[in-house]
Amino acid sequence: FLFIFFSFLYIFPFQEFIFIVLILKMALIFFILILSHLVGMSHAQLKVGFYGKTCPEAENIVTNVVRQVAASTQNIAPVLLRLHFHDCFVQGCDGSILLENGEIGERHAFGHQGVQGFDVIERAKQEIEKVCPGIVSCADIVALAARDAVVVANGPSYEVETGRRDGLISNLTLAANMPDVSESIQILKAKFSQKGLSEKDLVVLSAAHTIGTTACFFMTQRLYDFVPGGGSDPSIDPSFLPELMAACPRNGDVNARLSMDRGSSEEFDNNILQNVRSGFAVLRSDASLYEDVDTRNIVDSYFGIFSPFLGTSFEDDFANAMVKMGRIDVLTGKQGKIRSVCSTF
Ligand code: HEM
Ligand SMILES: *[C@@H]1O[C@H](CO)[C@@H](O)[C@H](O)[C@H]1NC(C)=O
Repeated sequence: FLFIFFSFLYIFPFQEFIFIVLILKMALIFFILILSHLVGMSHAQLKVGFYGKTCPEAENIVTNVVRQVAASTQNIAPVLLRLHFHDCFVQGCDGSILLENGEIGERHAFGHQGVQGFDVIERAKQEIEKVCPGIVSCADIVALAARDAVVVANGPSYEVETGRRDGLISNLTLAANMPDVSESIQILKAKFSQKGLSEKDLVVLSAAHTIGTTACFFMTQRLYDFVPGGGSDPSIDPSFLPELMAACPRNGDVNARLSMDRGSSEEFDNNILQNVRSGFAVLRSDASLYEDVDTRNIVDSYFGIFSPFLGTSFEDDFANAMVKMGRIDVLTGKQGKIRSVCSTF
């Protein structure tokens, strides 16, 4: 302002109308600045430590709740990690999967079959509300809990961006597009790409299956009704097939559970990718990562002789991909709201 003011004075000294023009110009610039500030606010970004001043204990509370529950509930780490993925892939990471709003609720979508962990998020939320009510979103708690879950399973830690707001819609039809085990690698790539995630993200995020289990429900087709050809999926290593069939017998209990990372399903590591390479993938979608030239090269990149020294590690790539996943279609600034109970509007 001062610069403009004095340069005008210098060029046109003591001319009244110039001063009027000048004042109008300054008003205009002022107006533009205010406008861009408002626009900037509606484009508010996620950032690490968003609650640093408003609720400094929030992250510790989530970490402690996850640790406490993990001490008594064996499968909680994979459950919480999966919950974040399913939250982010439907209408963005907005906590909408947590809402309990009857039959049409997103939570009941077919694509969310087996998703759990809601009670853990609710418990963390209650403890946070006691300290700083109305500040921390349920969507952020889901993202933080997923990170803490990975750490519980000895995976990499990473800084979680926060500042998400909670969504206002829960509708199961919106979840119809969740990636499915039986989909081709092309479709899986396309679905990740629609969310701004690369082929590499697809590979390393699928490697989240390094921990946890699947219901036999998701194995029936692969073992007994494979398309094309019927019978079992020919990509399964012949020595592994009897083991899978024993765990999930034909017409057996579809709710029986099976580790997804043979030999290492409680430890967060890249063993799952080794299994994918050698025909020991459990889920069909994981096996398909090795049937496309691009995703196969990405899987292999973690096992070259020089890969420990060149490029990035699986753990780093996973952490980066989680941060990216946590940005999908987030609500920020004044969008959405902060719920006080995660299961209700
Ligand atoms: C490529 C798309 C994906 C497909 C088709 C897929 C499919 C599945 C299926 C069918 C299960 C078994 C669910 C059950 O029976 O309870 C499962 C479990 C799991 N998924 Fe995925 N998933 C995908 C991507 C991801 C991503 C991106 C993550 C996280 C970053 C993830 C994390 C998990 C975890 C941790 C479990 C174990 C849950 C438990 O033990 O309760 N998945 N997934
Ligand atoms: C749920 O979403 C679908 C698709 O956008 C829409 O047709 C339907 O009316 C919605 N249902 C409710 C109850 O809002």
